[in-house]
Amino acid sequence: MSNTLQHLAIIMDGNGRWAKERGLRRTKGHEAGVETVRRVTEYCAEDPEIETLTLYAFSTENWKRPRMEVDYLMHLLEKYIRLEQERYMEHGIRFETIGDLSPFSDKLRRTLKATRELTRNNRQLTQILALNYGARDEIVRSVRRVLEAGEEISEASIGRHLDTPYTDADLLIRTSGEQRLSNFLLWQLSYTELAFTDTYWPDFSVEELRSIIDDFKARQRKFGGI
Ligand code: IPE
Ligand code: IPE
Ligand code: MG
Repeated sequence: MSNTLQHLAIIMDGNGRWAKERGLRRTKGHEAGVETVRRVTEYCAEDPEIETLTLYAFSTENWKRPRMEVDYLMHLLEKYIRLEQERYMEHGIRFETIGDLSPFSDKLRRTLKATRELTRNNRQLTQILALNYGARDEIVRSVRRVLEAGEEISEASIGRHLDTPYTDADLLIRTSGEQRLSNFLLWQLSYTELAFTDTYWPDFSVEELRSIIDDFKARQRKFGGI
C-alpha cells in the first residue's frame, strides 16, 4: 500500500540566493521562481491524485524586507496572476488564496478576486497561494470567527474557520536547504510528511518533484498508531 498524495504544500525558498550566486539582483530570482511555480502547478494539475497545491508566496514576516523588494514582489504577483488566468482555464486549475489580504492594494485584491471567481468551477487542481500568510495569524483569526459565530471551541470548529476548508497537507517540501516551517500551516501540518532539498526554488525541477513524491509514497505514515 502506498500513500496517497492529495494535498501538497511547498515553501518556495532560495530565490534570493539563486540570484546572488549568479551576480544578479534578488528580483531576478523571484522572476525565475515564477517559472518554477508554473512548471510545478501544471505537473500537479496533470497528476490525477493531487487535488490541492498550497504555495507559500509571502509571509506575514516578509514585510520586514526592504521596501523595494516588497514592492517588486507585489508587482510580480499581480502580473503573474493576471497572465496566469488563461493557463488556469486551460489546465482546469481553481485559484484560491489564504492569508490576510487586507494590507494589499485595491488593484491586487481586485485581480485576486476576479481570478478566484473566474476559476471557481475548475476541478483538476486547486492552487492555493499563501499571501501575507502566517499560521499563527490564521489560527487567531479562526478562533475569533468561532467566537463570533457563538460556537464551542473545538478542533473541529477551529479547523472549519481557518482560511481554507481544505484537507491537511500530506506532504510538505521546502527548497533551498533551510529546515524550518517559518510560520507556514502549523495547524494543517500536524501529521504531514516533511521533505527538504538543497535545490533553490528557481532550479527545482519536475524530475526532482517526482522523486520526492516517490519517496513519500514509500514512507510509513502512522498517525500515532502502530
Ligand atoms: C523565497 O525566496 C521567496 C519569498 C520569500 C518571497 P527568498 O527571497 O526567501 O530567497 P532567499 O532565502 O533569500 O535565498
Ligand atoms: C518563508 O521563506 C516564506 C516564503 C517562502 C514565502 P523565508 O525566506 O521568508 O523564511 P525565513 O526567513 O528564512 O525563515
Ligand atoms: Mg528565504
